[in-house]
Amino acid sequence: MSTPHPWWQGGVLYQIYPRSFADSNGDGVGDLTGITERLEYLESLGIAGIWLNPVTVSPNRDWGYDVADYCDVDPDLGTLSDLDRLVAEAGARGIRVLLDLVPNHSSDQHAWFVEARSSPTSPHRDWYVWADPRADGSPPNNWRSAFGGPAWTLDGQTGQYYLHNFLPEQPDLNWWNEEVRNAFDEILRFWFERGIAGFRIDVAHGIVKDRELRDNPPAVEADDEHTRRVGQRPVYNMNRPEVHDVLRRWRQLAERFEPPRVLVGETWVLELDRWAAFYGNGSDELHLAFNFPFAFSPLEAEPLRRAVEDTESVIPEAAWPVWTLSNHDIRRFPTRLCGEEEPQVRCALLALLSLRGTPVLYYGDELGMPDVPIPADRARDPVGRDPCRTPMQWTAEPGAGFTEPGVEPWLPLGDASRCNVEAQRGRDDSILAFTQHLIALRRELPDLRVGSYASLPAPDDVWAWRRGGRVAVTVNLGGEQRSIASGPGVIAAATHTARQGEAVESTLVLGPWEGALVLMGYR
Ligand code: GLC
Repeated sequence: MSTPHPWWQGGVLYQIYPRSFADSNGDGVGDLTGITERLEYLESLGIAGIWLNPVTVSPNRDWGYDVADYCDVDPDLGTLSDLDRLVAEAGARGIRVLLDLVPNHSSDQHAWFVEARSSPTSPHRDWYVWADPRADGSPPNNWRSAFGGPAWTLDGQTGQYYLHNFLPEQPDLNWWNEEVRNAFDEILRFWFERGIAGFRIDVAHGIVKDRELRDNPPAVEADDEHTRRVGQRPVYNMNRPEVHDVLRRWRQLAERFEPPRVLVGETWVLELDRWAAFYGNGSDELHLAFNFPFAFSPLEAEPLRRAVEDTESVIPEAAWPVWTLSNHDIRRFPTRLCGEEEPQVRCALLALLSLRGTPVLYYGDELGMPDVPIPADRARDPVGRDPCRTPMQWTAEPGAGFTEPGVEPWLPLGDASRCNVEAQRGRDDSILAFTQHLIALRRELPDLRVGSYASLPAPDDVWAWRRGGRVAVTVNLGGEQRSIASGPGVIAAATHTARQGEAVESTLVLGPWEGALVLMGYR
């Protein structure tokens, strides 16, 4: 039966941090050919698409998020033809490739900025955000960088400040300039024509700045932790309403391709009604907008249920949610949410893969891979995000199957003897086997893939929901056994693998930190 749902709604996405997935040439840094060599594994997982963190040329002040050339591959990671080969070979296995687009800022080494800073009258000057000092020589306004310190750096040569919402080496582009918009249209087309299936858009809520450069208001106690740390609300240095014009323009561009390309936004906006606006009317802005309130929820029934219900109630009718628990900025969920306890990890995976919406796994999530403590002398990231960016653990051998034995990987390896692909592939009760099973069930059951979500009544600590007409998912996120009223059915997936196939009559009994997916009516 054909379905009206596009591939990115039914399928699971998988995020790869390219420097850390697989090193094909023994230099300690993962690369594109390494990913191509692991496609068999990705296919066996059952995922529908991969999103690669930036692969474009970068001086790596912010590990790829400072782009010096938007249309070429960074030599550490390979070449354009390596990328073409990855796209072709992934495509042959039914896996699409999404790239990361970084439109908010370039690298200070990008030819545009090098030229812009050379003179106040240079042709690219207005591609960035410049302003004169105040009378006392201080920055033009009070804006703070998300990474700490003022968001302005004085350019000694021309006597003006330039804006950077992140590092000084990441000057913000001026999205009021039509030439910048046109240049990015070309960048999108360049990659779409090469067969890229879509983009994850970095800082998608932030690229347009207040035209009058007004001061941000101070943070208040009720604000989230990050806002309080920065000390001000990012009202004028990002989050401007005009960003929606840019997203609509990209949506139109993406839909001119066949098949239409998909736009996934990093919408770091914690109020759900403002978040929902990034879908526009449901079909004219982003296809998927990352949901941070869900990712930041503790692994507890009530807050999770609320995050999902609130999302479901504000999202436009025609739009589709996207769920994730880990990424390269926010730490791995087994450490952040689960105390590295396997039953908790399984419950979280069951929930993530059973909601209405596209789940995004971060490489290693499927194994329950934890963060890796990084000794101070091995730190690479300016703001401390290395623990969740360490190499994929493929085997228990020296080098963990990531790189050759004896080669020092760019970031330290975790304890691969405790957690690796090879060991988990050999066991049908592993976390990996459980993840694979859930993804396979999604492919098999339209209700699980695209059915509607509705919360079900449940006792304390338990979160239960229905998907479509015949799937019920229940997770006990507490330390006590619970009994949950249920219709007759059969357990199709269980965090305790041995319970798969068990019949349910009128009550589902779940032990502490246990979850089950029941197919109703199957006897
Ligand atoms: C996004 C990226 C993060 C990067 C920042 C600046 O938040 O996910 O890794 O540091 O943007 O580009």
